[in-house]
Amino acid sequence: MHVRRRQFLQSAAALGAAFALPAGAAVPARKESRIELIPSEFKVALDPASPKKTSVWSFNETFPGPVLRFRRGDRAHITVRNQLPQETTVHWHGLRVPNAMDGVPGVTQLPIAAGGRFDYRFDLPDSGTFWYHPHQASFEQVPRGLYGALIVEEDKAPKVDRDEVWVLSDIKLDEQMQQVEDYGRILDFANEGRRGNQLLVNGLVAGPERKIAVRSGERLRLRLINAASARFFKLSLEGHAASIVAWDGQGLATPQPMPADGITLGPGMRVDLILDCMEKPGSRFEVREAGRPKASATVLGVIDYSTQPPVRGKALATSIVVPPNAIPEPNLDKASDHYIMFQGGMRGAPTIGMIDGKPSRIQDIMAKQGLAWTMNYNAQHEHALMHEPLLNLSRGEHVILHMVNETDFIHPMHLHGHFFRLLAVNGIANPQREWRDTVIMGARQTMDVAFVAENPGEWMYHCHILDHAAGGMMGTIVVE
Ligand code: C2O
Ligand code: CU
Repeated sequence: MHVRRRQFLQSAAALGAAFALPAGAAVPARKESRIELIPSEFKVALDPASPKKTSVWSFNETFPGPVLRFRRGDRAHITVRNQLPQETTVHWHGLRVPNAMDGVPGVTQLPIAAGGRFDYRFDLPDSGTFWYHPHQASFEQVPRGLYGALIVEEDKAPKVDRDEVWVLSDIKLDEQMQQVEDYGRILDFANEGRRGNQLLVNGLVAGPERKIAVRSGERLRLRLINAASARFFKLSLEGHAASIVAWDGQGLATPQPMPADGITLGPGMRVDLILDCMEKPGSRFEVREAGRPKASATVLGVIDYSTQPPVRGKALATSIVVPPNAIPEPNLDKASDHYIMFQGGMRGAPTIGMIDGKPSRIQDIMAKQGLAWTMNYNAQHEHALMHEPLLNLSRGEHVILHMVNETDFIHPMHLHGHFFRLLAVNGIANPQREWRDTVIMGARQTMDVAFVAENPGEWMYHCHILDHAAGGMMGTIVVE
């Protein structure tokens, strides 16, 4: 396996970016959008009310990176010029791109050297709420600030008056409001991951100053993206009944009411909400962390009504259904079963796994090797060239993937290049069977998902707690 990949990477290097023609280029794209993304280090005011500036790594000197907007069917041509002091790549989380455009160093491309460039070109077959971030040392590069929203608009979007994007994240700051540069600690790899001590909404400190301006009577679409490297966000909306219309960018056939006790987004996940803002002009309502007493819950922002009279007296009656994308439907009757089991972590049963061909007790070698987790009894360094794939699937294969979490930890599991239907949790059927690209696998839980292995290549399958990914929860699934 690794020999073939080495050859591939060598030829990729020899040909430069020009080799990467899109798969399925038969349909002429509506329009090619050319964009430059320049990751670099610069200073920003996280709190506009404070004179202190914080050094971050982000794109195009905005933090988070710019919101990239496309229409479904467009072609993207994105040139990344790396001005960071490290190698990097950009991964387009949730986009079904050709494998060579997926932005995974050592697997789909060579890392972009400091000062180097890479051209990403791909079609956008799916509408939805997506995001982008590096896949190189992501446990460091993402929390430093390298992330941004990527929106692909539907041909027939539900009618709304406002479309807002909230990139949720956190940052670990010292008293000088500078980032604490303690990335890569085994204590974080083997536990809940490295969390920040300050919540951010669109790169600004969370709080009542983060306003979503609305006018009474308006219908609002709110796209939430969890770009934090380890934090789960559970949030609730005061005074409003919202509907979940999409998970991970994919519209639900039947929108679901947002649970009154809040909605949880694991790292990497997105949700689109639609709500009718029918309250009085001049009123305000908090968006806050749910699941804790009001007094101690962080206010992320507010829905802030203007004093203008209502635009309409009754909520819009038009449909809020986000039209589906054309994702091949897995046929469960003919699907093959595959299993991936997860073990490890600082707490819980001792774990024996294969490390460099030798059975070892994970808890004993953690500190030395930086590995804390196994998948199917293997602990591997992320993107290692010697990786054996977790699964080898044939192109067009219908797959039921049974995920068995034997750890005492929660893991948001993400598959590249594909969407899967969430069939069951702990053996209990999920009636919605919605599409996802990232799913929260609870501690000691099993989870069954199904998909058609349609996109050829070697795809990452990993925990989106980026410290866990670096600590062994990163593998690949080959489709050929
Ligand atoms: Cu959002 Cu492999 O990543
Ligand atoms: Cu994890």
